[in-house]
Amino acid sequence: MKKDFILILDFESQYSHMIARRIRDVGVYTLLYHYNDISISHIISKKPKGLILSGGPYSVYEKNSPLISKKFFQMNIPIFGICYGMQLISFLFGGEIKKSKYKEYGKSNFIIDHLNHSLFHGIPDQSIVWMSHFDEVKNIPTEFQVIGHTSSCHIAAMSHISKDIYAVQFHPEVKNTEYGVSMLKNFVFHICKCNSNWKLNHFVQKTINDIKQRVNKKKVLLGFSGGIDSFVTAYIIHKAIGNSLSCIFVDTGLLLKNEKEKIFFLCQKMNFDIKIIDAKNRFLSKLIGIVDPEKKRKVIGEEFFSIFQEESKKIENVEFIAQGTIYSDVIESSVYLKKNSIKSHHNVGGLPKELKKFKLIEPLKELFKDEVREIGEKLGISKEILYRHPFPGPGFGIRIIGEINEKKISILKEAENILSQELKNYDIYNSVSQAFIVLLPVKSVGIKGDKRSYEYAAILRVMNTEDFMTATFSHLSYDFLEKVSNRITNEVDGINRIAYDITSKPPSTIEWE
Ligand code: XMP
Repeated sequence: MKKDFILILDFESQYSHMIARRIRDVGVYTLLYHYNDISISHIISKKPKGLILSGGPYSVYEKNSPLISKKFFQMNIPIFGICYGMQLISFLFGGEIKKSKYKEYGKSNFIIDHLNHSLFHGIPDQSIVWMSHFDEVKNIPTEFQVIGHTSSCHIAAMSHISKDIYAVQFHPEVKNTEYGVSMLKNFVFHICKCNSNWKLNHFVQKTINDIKQRVNKKKVLLGFSGGIDSFVTAYIIHKAIGNSLSCIFVDTGLLLKNEKEKIFFLCQKMNFDIKIIDAKNRFLSKLIGIVDPEKKRKVIGEEFFSIFQEESKKIENVEFIAQGTIYSDVIESSVYLKKNSIKSHHNVGGLPKELKKFKLIEPLKELFKDEVREIGEKLGISKEILYRHPFPGPGFGIRIIGEINEKKISILKEAENILSQELKNYDIYNSVSQAFIVLLPVKSVGIKGDKRSYEYAAILRVMNTEDFMTATFSHLSYDFLEKVSNRITNEVDGINRIAYDITSKPPSTIEWE
């Protein structure tokens, strides 16, 4: 059965992924496309049951603001505009948008003006909504009616008088909008008439069957990293084809302490066929003298793939390469976002030229991270693996700022190990999203054991985030910070100073390079 789905046009709002997640949570599949990456004919061929225009940081009157053709509204598909999406609809239908005096940001009391409206089914006439905007609709287009307001925003929700076009100025996808999920459900079920047929259980079973059929008697090769995505990928493929799956783990030498041993143990426990390649020296020699972050990423990525290619030649009958790509990787590798890419994540965007002769298997490509976790839990994979903090492919290569050498790697290994122990001792590992140490190419003077020391300064970075696109630094206790700082500066030879990074993303990124 073809699943009903909602297509979201992303105008680069920080919340677009949340719209997709909330709707999947109620059992309806969603696809997210950057507004520049999909045409009307492509949308029509995909047959979505509804279209959502996301928010975005733009103003419709700005030069080069993202606009779409009015033909989008002739497709006979229900459309729901959110924030910028609402301003865009108003603008295209001849309404007037104005800059509000102040940026309205935060909770507002929303009052429904049209009580029996299908968008507000089961929602009380007053509730809290989350606003985040500069512009608002000043004059509603002629074919539209106001269906809700707040004290400072007179047109906070509107709908077309005869067509299925709806819009709200606030963000229903954000948890702070009390009845946001109900509004999205009303749009999806009452207006778009979707069936709730997106179920992860069915997905897993179908994926296992598909892989079995597709691979037949051939072999599949997987670059195993030990992270949740590659683990769940391996698990699903292994369930489908057993030891026709070969895993390769490349020890770049830029990994956490004892990582190689942990991976080996884990794979043995799961009966995965794993080959561990000790490539520390190859990576280190390629990285000598390289300081620029993008160059480091490039060198590490290329070396990884050339090792992978060499290994692929050693196994007979390999026809497929598996990757733990998840949906946010797919979104990030969209043509448009690639052009504006901030960092080159080497595990995004398909295979390099030399490996193109293989076919790709990406069982998790349609799933968001928390869906991968949910599947992992259903499959009985341990929480320790499923809730492991992400560790970037280039590893310490991007956590040692400036040139990399063996000494710096061993310093960082020890420091990270202490951090990991203390996160567990203080029972905060699971309440933060990612925590790590960055080693700076800066030395400072200190006193160790009554003697002058001149050692590296390091940064503690601990972040909380839902989707890793935006993130805030974790508000940790001074007690914890003091403990980590004391232990690292006392126990690690080579670090005598720790600072805590208190910047959010944006404007910073999570990793320093
Ligand atoms: P940034 O630094 O871009 O990081 O805010 C967002 C998330 O991505 C991880 N990251 C990577 N993961 N390969 C990966 O597998 C990479 O090249 C890479 N660069 C950053 C980062 O650790 C954070 O979780």
